[in-house]
Amino acid sequence: MSATIALRPARPSDVQGIARVHVETWRDTYAGLVPEEYLLSMTAKGQAAQWAEALGRARPSETALVAEIAEPEGARIIGFGSCGPARGGPASGEVFTLYVCGEWQNHGIGRRLLMGLFEVLAGQKSDAAVIWVLSGNPSRYFYEAMGGFRKAERQERFAGTTLDETAYVWPDLPAWLNQGGGRV
Ligand SMILES: CC(C)(COP(=O)(O)OP(=O)(O)OC[C@H]1O[C@@H](n2cnc3c(N)ncnc32)[C@H](O)[C@@H]1OP(=O)(O)O)[C@@H](O)C(=O)NCCC(=O)NCCS
Repeated sequence: MSATIALRPARPSDVQGIARVHVETWRDTYAGLVPEEYLLSMTAKGQAAQWAEALGRARPSETALVAEIAEPEGARIIGFGSCGPARGGPASGEVFTLYVCGEWQNHGIGRRLLMGLFEVLAGQKSDAAVIWVLSGNPSRYFYEAMGGFRKAERQERFAGTTLDETAYVWPDLPAWLNQGGGRV
């Protein structure tokens, strides 16, 4: 039986589900990249509080999407992403977060979330988008598979250390969307 997975805008009541995916994917993905003490200090409760604040203060132009699977015991969030006007850098729109829980990676959900976020940005007249990714994160190759161009590098201070980041840019979102999300 194939699973039913829906994408929809995040609601305030989603913060626990988002936080659970957030903590799990950060620990899986960033071990060895982000200080261990920081990863160990993360809790679903703490992240839920941060997401409640983020969703509460989000400007109208900032959007969070969730991917949700229908299960007999109720719907469960298995991925999320967020976007809005870029915080500086080589494009007007930015994807701030994109995470799919481990058991559901490689099922096309990341692509669907990315398309949803790019549709939001294109609808806000952002013709180009940037995503900053840790340079040591192998998921950066997902962005290359999605047609992103490596555009810039920077160093950011985070949790008492310096992290190397790489910017991937999509210079023409309407064309990318017309091609079905990089599928040509
Ligand atoms: C990166 C991530 C969002 C991708 O989502 P996903 O649902 O696993 O990816 P999809 O199944 O939609 O993959 C779409 C395509 O990209 C390819 N792809 C996925 N991950 C890849 C990777 N790490 N390297 C190269 N290609 C990759 C898939 O093979 C697929 O190709 P296809 O359409 O030709 O079959 C997800 O794996 C994830 O959350 N990773 C951990 C957290 C993370 O690093 N997030 C990004 C922070 S900036």
